[in-house]
Amino acid sequence: MPVHRLRVNGVDREVEVPAETPLLWVLRDELGLTGPKYGCGIGACGACVSLVDGQAERICVLPVGELGDRAVTTIEGLDDHPVQRAWIDCDVAQCGYCQAGQIMSTVALLRERPEPSDHDIDEALRDNVCRCGTYPRIRRAVHAAAELAREEKP
Ligand code: FES
Repeated sequence: MPVHRLRVNGVDREVEVPAETPLLWVLRDELGLTGPKYGCGIGACGACVSLVDGQAERICVLPVGELGDRAVTTIEGLDDHPVQRAWIDCDVAQCGYCQAGQIMSTVALLRERPEPSDHDIDEALRDNVCRCGTYPRIRRAVHAAAELAREEKP
């Protein structure tokens, strides 16, 4: 079986799995990173969203063999991030299952748009499904995170 070298949350890792194994299962089963969730397995729900070279990616449909030297960040790689704090302040989570994906999508959004409009937020998170319907709180938290991030900039 091929050996794959990955950089995950700033750490170099090696895994021995078939090249077609989705990155989601490599992270969860081989590396014990269970923040990214399995929802649909076909790239439709957003529960697995993590960052690949800073971009929000649906890693249930990303074979590990196609990752190359791109760096992976899961929610475990965030450290007291403004988005995490805003999520807590706004008490967003209900069941919580989709929230890691929502948060990682938001981190990617704010990197591109530090002052997103409601429309930007709705577009960026459109395909992150929340069955509890926390969308109004998510939108509020994204604005709060943007404000926190701006306040912290030197
Ligand atoms: Fe990846 Fe649904 S589990 S998009």
